[in-house]
Amino acid sequence: MSKISGKLFVAASALLAASAACLNAAESTLTIQTDQPGVKINRAMWGVFFEDINLGADGGLYAELVKNRSFEFPNALMGWQISGQTNGVEIRADKVFSQVQPHYIRLQSGTGLANEGFRGIGIHAGETYDFSVEARAVEGRPVLKIELVGADGHSLAATSVKGFQADWQRLTAKLKSSTQEEKARLKVSVEGGTADLDMVSLFPRHTWKNRPGGLRADMVQWLADMKPGFMRFPGGCIVEGHTLTNRYQWKTTIGPVAERKVIMNRWNDEFKHRPTPDYYQSFGLGFFEYFQLCEDIGASPLPILNCGMACQYNSGELCPLDQLEPYIQDALDLIEFANGPVDSVWGAKRAAMGHPKSFGLKMLGVGNEQWDQQYIDRYVKFQQVLKAKHPEIKLVSAAGPSPDGKLFDFAWKNLRELHADIVDEHCYAKPDWFYNGTHRYDHYDRNGPKVFFGEYAAQSDHTGSTNNHNNLECALAEAACMTGLERNGDVVAMASYAPLFAHVDGWQWKPDLIWVNNLQSCGTPDYYVQKLFANNPGDMTVPVKLNAFADAKLFVSATRDDVTGETILKVVNGGKSPAAVKLDFAGAKKIDSKATVFTLASASLKDENSFAAPQKVSPVEAKIKITSPQFSYAFPPDSLTVLRLKITN
Ligand code: AHR
Repeated sequence: MSKISGKLFVAASALLAASAACLNAAESTLTIQTDQPGVKINRAMWGVFFEDINLGADGGLYAELVKNRSFEFPNALMGWQISGQTNGVEIRADKVFSQVQPHYIRLQSGTGLANEGFRGIGIHAGETYDFSVEARAVEGRPVLKIELVGADGHSLAATSVKGFQADWQRLTAKLKSSTQEEKARLKVSVEGGTADLDMVSLFPRHTWKNRPGGLRADMVQWLADMKPGFMRFPGGCIVEGHTLTNRYQWKTTIGPVAERKVIMNRWNDEFKHRPTPDYYQSFGLGFFEYFQLCEDIGASPLPILNCGMACQYNSGELCPLDQLEPYIQDALDLIEFANGPVDSVWGAKRAAMGHPKSFGLKMLGVGNEQWDQQYIDRYVKFQQVLKAKHPEIKLVSAAGPSPDGKLFDFAWKNLRELHADIVDEHCYAKPDWFYNGTHRYDHYDRNGPKVFFGEYAAQSDHTGSTNNHNNLECALAEAACMTGLERNGDVVAMASYAPLFAHVDGWQWKPDLIWVNNLQSCGTPDYYVQKLFANNPGDMTVPVKLNAFADAKLFVSATRDDVTGETILKVVNGGKSPAAVKLDFAGAKKIDSKATVFTLASASLKDENSFAAPQKVSPVEAKIKITSPQFSYAFPPDSLTVLRLKITN
């Protein structure tokens, strides 16, 4: 998505020359101490946080286009509109197709249904769509007519299927439209007999890696392009549920999709100002698919499991301590599902789903954003068993909902005493917090637990506001903070922005990293910051010494990439004017004349990306020529710059 061109080469050289020409007293100096040892950091520290919020999974990443395909929402016809005689249509629960999907629909001849999809069905011109249904004939010789219609009712594509039998069987058909439509509907109707239908489904043929019933390719591409070091899933508060009954239970999300029990999504009615009554979880994107996705994009899997606590913002229901065993067993079984041999109980299930090889699970989260004594009591129980049976698995524990305060201090005190592996800190705050927090980790204990800065995002308005924007101002504040995380990479093992995806017509929470509609997806300035850090990781820090001119608002980190042998410098200029900086790569005997520079900037701090102008705020890549290890560079106002150079000491 970045561009390289001769023009940009000239522009960048001009920037260097211009800055060299205007060397004056206002010039800051930055010494990159390539002659001094830094500390080892995790090159996979920049990852992604996935949660089924904002139609992130159903209606988003999971490419199923039919909402309530199995008639299991409490209102069994939610998302469906009946055509023809309503008394010829009946929801039934006898002689079912699947015990896990105990409802289906009976259509008499001359009746039909239309599905509205997830805020409409996105249809790309020329794309093949695969329709499937579990069906049986009840009477006569039913013929099923299938049609895609546009928002105004005009037909986009139509076909029909016959061959119904008395027993349930899968019937399939293909549809192709020559025109594009963002808000189509799927119509099915029956002629010539009475038919029972269940699992009515429509997928684009082209999914990520063209897996049937797979993931939306454009959405996964954003993740793949970022090259995240890890992926945390499935959340977020979704792990916890309003109550323990609707907590996330990974075992109900694997195996054939028809065997995955549909439940309400906890974001369905969370916000009175953004109700989403049709938000349910089909689990078509379940734990197997999450692991597979991690493997596809080269990210280390980080599943987070419920620890016997429902969301403390909701019911706060607790599983009594003496009844935690099934929760802990879920964790043990998950490790076996991910890593166990194919002849183990859970390893066999993974193999049966097509992945005999281990998924290489190395980390596991115990609870999401829990807090207080109740959490510590439960964490201890998990820790005792998991550490005894799986010392190779690092456990991620929770520091609560805020990055400071009583609950935070309480969590840290206890987790430190428990020698926790990795502590998950969350922060949603104004941009200033991120600018002010760049030295937060300088004083953390180097021998204590590692930090996972697991959820963060700068809020242009305030947390929970519907008026938050993914603008350059927020993105740069996050970038400034990330320089602090990277400089302290010996303490901060991992970090991820949250939430990840949002549907423009179905979101509950703003801001978000990547926005989608039914046809397109768009990276935010925050996304490009994440991408620049994750695409330019380091193995070691390189110490930096900044002598900034009084008015300068500069934030810096430097690393060494052992794979390419390059030194990588990241600089945020949060000031309103170009920052002239004299760079000194100390101890460098030789510097390669060719360097690469990525610049993220825009005309205004309020600039955002949109479907109409998706690259308005996106990095520009250029090659620059360097002649000496000491040179001047003008960092543009309100920008993030990433400079890659080869140095020999
Ligand atoms: O990212 C949105 C929510 O914020 C997460 O689900 C939760 O962990 C946090 O409160």
